[in-house]
Amino acid sequence: MAATWNQVTMDASTGGLNIGGKVLHPLWLRERVIEPDALDPISHQRLYEPAELRPDISIKTIKSSDNGPNLDVEFSDGYKAVFNLNKLACEIGLADNPENIPQPKSWKTSLEFKRFSWNKLDDPTEMKDLLTAYFENAFCIMDDTPTDRDSLIDHAERFGFLRTTNFGAIFNVETKPAATDLAYTDVALASHTDNPYRLPVPSIQYLHCLANEVSGGLSTLVDGMAVAEAIADENQAWGDILEKVPVRFRYEGPTGIYEDMAPLIARDYRGFVNHIRFSPRLDFVPALDPDTLSLFYAARRRMHELANDLAFQIQFPFKPGTLLMMNNYRLFHGRTAFNGQQGYRHLQGCYIDHDGPQCLYRLLATGDTDTHIKRET
Ligand SMILES: [Fe+2]
Repeated sequence: MAATWNQVTMDASTGGLNIGGKVLHPLWLRERVIEPDALDPISHQRLYEPAELRPDISIKTIKSSDNGPNLDVEFSDGYKAVFNLNKLACEIGLADNPENIPQPKSWKTSLEFKRFSWNKLDDPTEMKDLLTAYFENAFCIMDDTPTDRDSLIDHAERFGFLRTTNFGAIFNVETKPAATDLAYTDVALASHTDNPYRLPVPSIQYLHCLANEVSGGLSTLVDGMAVAEAIADENQAWGDILEKVPVRFRYEGPTGIYEDMAPLIARDYRGFVNHIRFSPRLDFVPALDPDTLSLFYAARRRMHELANDLAFQIQFPFKPGTLLMMNNYRLFHGRTAFNGQQGYRHLQGCYIDHDGPQCLYRLLATGDTDTHIKRET
């Protein structure tokens, strides 16, 4: 709902503004000036240092010249500016902001989800639907993608920019001798998150199927948010210790030693679980006192059980052209075993950062019809 002129008054006690009962500090308003002498029209960067504004600034007068969304404000130092009421209302939560990224929704095995066809993603509405599903569920599945070797680079760069690691810009998931990671064998992979030893941890993972002649090897996904909620519901002390104890994750291989320390569960400023780290073959808890460690081990055991519990898990096969996009900070992923002698199975994977799909969503929300992330030249 948009804000209206009659919801706006000056606030005498602060020298600021009152919109619909929300009092805005005069400096807060002054920092949102968009006049050409204050804001670069292309980069939208301020042309002044906001910390150097007079601290005692206040609002002198307000009026609405059009009785509509534009609000004319004169500040105590004589500076005059026009503000868009609807824009202010969006920022303070009085109106829905179309740029807001859809909030996560935890899910279990009964989740019903839509699969998207790559061929329809030039339609901005379809792409926005896909991104909405991704932000809510932390994954989405696309079909009908081209299956040329390394075409994943183009597919992923539609959404963001590649995060290269010592495994390369893209990695091949196929059985091979002397594998440097269990992913490159045909054994089952229990639920885990990727690369918690890296700083920063890779954000979004893509898995792209080029060939699959085996019957097993189903991909498994589990929502870390749902698991964290279930653990805390069962035993708050378990939930707390998983957010408190920093664990050392370490990868040591032929090309490097990577290490970082962080708790298994972290939350964002809103309280949403926003980072699960779970890689039981690579984690090393500090030598804490035995009582603390007993509690930690019990909590981690429960996390392992729920992360591999079919009640929390969805499974799906990869067929050539299937492209999975998943949030490595929220989902556990794994795979069922298969027989590598049965036939050829070849997936390629890569990572991008969180901000790419968020940027694409905001552009689409503001009416942009380009369904590809843009790169400055
Ligand atoms: Fe993995």
